[in-house]
Amino acid sequence: MTGLAQVRPGMVLAEDVRDVNGRLLLSRGKTIGAEHIRIFKMWGVSRVAVRGETKPAADPPGVDPRQLEALRRELEPRFRHADRGHPAVAEMLRAAALYRAARRLPPPEAPELPPEAPAGGGPARRRDFLEIFMEREIALPEISTIVFELNEVIANPLATADRMAQVIHKSPSLTAMLLKIVNSALYGLPAPVDRVSLAVTLIGTRELSALALGLSVISAFRRIPRRVIDMRRFLEHSLACGIASRLFAAQKNLRQTEQLFSAGLLHDLGRLVLYLFFPEEMLGALRTARREGLCLSDAERRELGCIHAWIGQVLLQRWRLPLLLEHAASFHHEPEASPDPLPAAIVHVADVLVNALGIGSSGEVLVPPLRPAAWEALGLPPESLASVAAQTAHHLEAMASLWGEALP
Ligand SMILES: [Fe+2]
Ligand SMILES: [Fe+2]
Repeated sequence: MTGLAQVRPGMVLAEDVRDVNGRLLLSRGKTIGAEHIRIFKMWGVSRVAVRGETKPAADPPGVDPRQLEALRRELEPRFRHADRGHPAVAEMLRAAALYRAARRLPPPEAPELPPEAPAGGGPARRRDFLEIFMEREIALPEISTIVFELNEVIANPLATADRMAQVIHKSPSLTAMLLKIVNSALYGLPAPVDRVSLAVTLIGTRELSALALGLSVISAFRRIPRRVIDMRRFLEHSLACGIASRLFAAQKNLRQTEQLFSAGLLHDLGRLVLYLFFPEEMLGALRTARREGLCLSDAERRELGCIHAWIGQVLLQRWRLPLLLEHAASFHHEPEASPDPLPAAIVHVADVLVNALGIGSSGEVLVPPLRPAAWEALGLPPESLASVAAQTAHHLEAMASLWGEALP
């Protein structure tokens, strides 16, 4: 199989190419044209079988190899907790250098933190933080009733497209966001879609409900003060992780691509809760991470006695949202422990990749370690990461106007 980045017009297909739903995109024996490559990308196809030998990926033209190497070296310290000897991590570092070189971006910088409170004035350390969180009655941001209605649609195999469209239409902002995503290149629909009912028909009731549910939940948290976290960067990180998770799911031929999009979108939900309700404690964890060169999850463990992933799980469980979302949020830093390891592994790899590229941030400034078992569960060649990285960046940039709907 050849990664799409290496496929050139004029190559001949050795096997049929199908999308995630099994629909034939181009049959065996056909010559690949530039238009076909575009269609494969739109439908999340990342590898195809072509006849004859193909050469390994070359750096794209226009990028000075010396500049690339210099950038790669500058990025290396961010990878101090990732095993750079692992082929997938090495490929992520290369993809990160390419991503930043192509856009002339410097290595990502850690945003400034507000000054620390004088000694003794800060919050007490809480070792049993998860318990406190579970016991304390926290007035969570109001989750629109639409989320619960969408959840019912996902759980009900008999739910109709009409019922689904009815639920979504209750929120004009959700309708606008959803149509924007559905009309983006991520879906590659042949003509613009201006009605939710048509989007449901094209994408599927349960899949579109899952997408709408993820968007509704994340937008409920948009009013977090900038002093603690830059919500725009948080959303960028979350959306990029959703897109990358969806692309990996498509490569694995999973049918729940939109559920994986939402799982990626919501993976760091627990961090939003912490920023919103326990800002001083989270600032403490952010400072510890910076001071000691720790990954933020390790600093959370030390400062709060638990990590954001567990908080996210409690929340999703409390709202009775789909188990796939709950497991992916709960286990995205230790996917092998999940009762459903593949979705958690997908979100884990997507998260590490997006952190490596430095697209947005949920507060983390380093690249979290990649779990080798999770990478193996994906069963993909390391070269596929370059194509997922490029597609993620491309789709995210195309969706930039979503920020307007998602932020106040
Ligand atoms: Fe996380
Ligand atoms: Fe993350």
